[in-house]
Amino acid sequence: MSQNEAKRLAAEKAIDYIEDGMIVGVGTGSTVAYFIDALATIRHRIKATVSSSDQSTARLKQHGIEVMDLNHAGTLSLYVDGADECDPRKCLIKGGGAALTREKIIAEASRQFICIVDPAKQVPVLGRFPLPVEVIPMARSLVAREILAMTGGQPVWRDGVTTDNGNVILDIHNLSITDPVAMERELNQISGVVCVGLFARRPADVVIIGGDPPTVL
Ligand code: A5P
Repeated sequence: MSQNEAKRLAAEKAIDYIEDGMIVGVGTGSTVAYFIDALATIRHRIKATVSSSDQSTARLKQHGIEVMDLNHAGTLSLYVDGADECDPRKCLIKGGGAALTREKIIAEASRQFICIVDPAKQVPVLGRFPLPVEVIPMARSLVAREILAMTGGQPVWRDGVTTDNGNVILDIHNLSITDPVAMERELNQISGVVCVGLFARRPADVVIIGGDPPTVL
């Protein structure tokens, strides 16, 4: 099975979790694009969505699905998003698409977080995928030096990328994240860091791995 087919099957399985009248949090990325397409087929059943990126907002609107401001939505029942890596405790690396900050806000605002992935995203220990960190532009060099001293990993500026919030991304290479909760907490302390792409303090509640049939963890 191709990776895209696995993404599509994971995304379609997530539709099972949608209940009538829900406001659904929607993540970002190629797996979520399949989810949005599937959501369009039942759009009359949901009240609205809250989107984690301009990219997802555009796709939702193309399908005629209403997008709400999180400030008006309150606590969400459900958030569906992809990931770049997923460990056995359902801790995640996210932000490959640079949408990590809004994704983390919506994950935190949601009672249930369903992560949809293809099998290649499963790892025993997080860190093979470079860890994205969103940073205030003027703090880029400072944060890079602190990351190097703190983690030993190599921060690399994602040149040419500006996030939806007007910030930049540093990707930390060569990490082996055995304690994701501690690393998320420590990196969050650096002045100039807006968001760390580790979703460990608030991991996924359910992980759906695409396959025929999909595996639900
Ligand atoms: C977006 O910033 C990311 O967090 C995505 O959720 C992640 O990169 C997964 O993307 P794909 O579904 O495209 O693999």
